[in-house]
Amino acid sequence: MFLPKIGLFGLLLIFVISSLIIIYQIQILKLHDKIYALESSLNENVATQNRQEKIHDDTVIIYNRVPKTASTSFVGIAYDLCKKNNFHVLHVNVTANSHVLSLNNQFELAKNVTHWTAMKPALYHGHFAYFDFPKLGFPKPLYINLIRRPLDRFISYYYFVRYGDNYRPYLVRKKHGNTMSFDECVARKLPECDPNNLWLQVPFFCGHAANCRKPGNKWALAEAKKNIVTNYLLVGVTEELQDFISLLEITIPRMFKGALDHYLNSNKSHLRKTIQKEVPSEKTIKIIKESPIWQMENELYDFALEYFHFVKKYTLKDRNQKVVYEKVRPKYTW
Ligand SMILES: *[C@@H]1O[C@H](CO)[C@@H](O)[C@H](O)[C@H]1NC(C)=O
Ligand SMILES: *[C@@H]1O[C@H](CO)[C@@H](O)[C@H](O)[C@H]1NC(C)=O
Ligand SMILES: *[C@@H]1O[C@H](CO)[C@@H](O)[C@H](O)[C@H]1NC(C)=O
Repeated sequence: MFLPKIGLFGLLLIFVISSLIIIYQIQILKLHDKIYALESSLNENVATQNRQEKIHDDTVIIYNRVPKTASTSFVGIAYDLCKKNNFHVLHVNVTANSHVLSLNNQFELAKNVTHWTAMKPALYHGHFAYFDFPKLGFPKPLYINLIRRPLDRFISYYYFVRYGDNYRPYLVRKKHGNTMSFDECVARKLPECDPNNLWLQVPFFCGHAANCRKPGNKWALAEAKKNIVTNYLLVGVTEELQDFISLLEITIPRMFKGALDHYLNSNKSHLRKTIQKEVPSEKTIKIIKESPIWQMENELYDFALEYFHFVKKYTLKDRNQKVVYEKVRPKYTW
């Protein structure tokens, strides 16, 4: 009677102990699962973060600056900020200032800009017409530009090649010594002030198609409009340079933090002034405005202006807009 009793008690004890061990082991397994889930979610977060930082640092801005649109003032600000904000600014010097790049140079430039990590983030600037990176097999950079009232730009250029500017006063420009006024040039119908020469901003935004360079080509105008809206991050107007700088600072603070302040407080904001700019007469303005080339260039300017104001309205005027995520699924259960 004695032994079986101990045996029963012993069995009970063994049962209880092994049950406890099993329960603990299940607990340990559950903990292992949790640690695993935690670790993998942590790794994923780190990977996402690295990816985001990489994307952030990969920023490449192409500023294919139109001549005589205050581009030097803007680029000056970028040069002043680049050291502090830790990015690079590079000038793309094209032989003889040609606005058209050969196919091999487009390819090499797109390839170099895309892969040159040591320069990123970077702002590349130069006087060349728009060209499409994806067409060449490379990811889209962020294109930016400025556009100016076509007649003002034309007159500014006319006097610039005669008198130069206060930026590089020592440089002798190609028409140096020629003192003819723009009015006289137009009255005499000289080739330099031929309204066909107004055809400049359309080709810059239109790009590298043959049609882009044909003064008055309707397809070119349509293409230029399309590029402004779909292929440029931002196209500002010279007349509202300050807002262009503000928008860039708000959108890409990584590079343009402090740009507005710098523009307002340094005396570089109006760096480059063409010397001896005469106001054209009413008669001259009337003659120019009758030209279909001016009308098309002006249509592009008005289109860009309206779009710029639209972007400004939703970006500068209402700074309280918030975009947040919610209802993110699946959730991790800790
Ligand atoms: C571009 O390069 C040419 C030839 O090397 C040089 O003469 C010219 O000054 C450069 N242009 C600028 C704006 O630096
Ligand atoms: C881009 O071009 C520059 C100048 O030619 C060169 O020094 C640099 O190594 C190039 N970068 C890449 C990634 O090809
Ligand atoms: C403004 O420019 C002048 C020379 O043109 C210079 O002497 C002065 O230090 C500049 N001021 C600032 C605040 O940069």
